[in-house]
Amino acid sequence: MGGCLASAPFALYPPVHMSIPTVPYQPLDVPESGRLEVAAVVLDEMNSRRSVRDFSDRPVPRELLETAILCASTAPSGAHMQPWTFVLVGDPELKRQIRIAAEAEELENYDGGRLPPHWREDLAPLGTDWHKPYLETVPWIVVVFEQRFGIRPDGTKQHHYYVKESVGIACGMFIDALHRMGLSTLTHTPSPMAFLRTLLGRPDSERPFILFPIGYAAPDCQVPALERKDLNDVMIEVVAVDLETTAEVENYPDSSN
Ligand SMILES: Cc1cc2nc3c(=O)[nH]c(=O)nc-3n(C[C@H](O)[C@H](O)[C@H](O)COP(=O)(O)O)c2cc1C
Repeated sequence: MGGCLASAPFALYPPVHMSIPTVPYQPLDVPESGRLEVAAVVLDEMNSRRSVRDFSDRPVPRELLETAILCASTAPSGAHMQPWTFVLVGDPELKRQIRIAAEAEELENYDGGRLPPHWREDLAPLGTDWHKPYLETVPWIVVVFEQRFGIRPDGTKQHHYYVKESVGIACGMFIDALHRMGLSTLTHTPSPMAFLRTLLGRPDSERPFILFPIGYAAPDCQVPALERKDLNDVMIEVVAVDLETTAEVENYPDSSN
């Protein structure tokens, strides 16, 4: 398969030096005529997802969580290292300990002056504060850890690549999978999150990335009436680059934290 001619004007796939056997790729079978409809349904479904901070204590079968984690783990990752660990917590005492430690950090963030004023101002409309009761209400918490590097079976270190990008994509897919199953979650970052590594007994090759409380939204759950940016605010089509304008854009002052 796929012999490579030196004179070929394009690269053939698979390249001759590829050592993993190949399998036929099967894209989803969406009829050409129905694609726009499918696209609209996908958008509707994704647009109906919201971050939830008010949960019911209704039990959620563990198998749903396992399936959502498998969905997340289909994410692309740098050199296919899949540098993530999904830690599942359902034990009430452990959830209580997580809540206590998260609230201690958040108290410092919100009321102890650790969050810079601009951050507090941006959070104010959302009405969030240091109280995190949902960490005990939810049937499950999943804490996603990024693996800074891996350990091979022989004990040597395996490099990981684009760890944050890979884990971020996996988390996005996890959120979407939960949503499609009718479950709700919150992307929660009670920073600094080092306490999670200690509480959950993870090795120092791993760093907590995001904490997801997971369950069913409370029947009377309200969410902030947020607007999402229009397509024109998030997308531009570039047909030719004006280098002078680009230079100006690059000169914007650094606005990171
Ligand atoms: C990386 C990240 C960290 C977040 N951390 C928190 C958090 O610690 N607490 C919280 O209440 N919401 C947190 N959020 C949720 C955002 O506030 C929420 O996604 C945003 O308001 C948009 O709302 P939506 O998710 O319903 O679209 C976080 C979101 C992201 C992406």
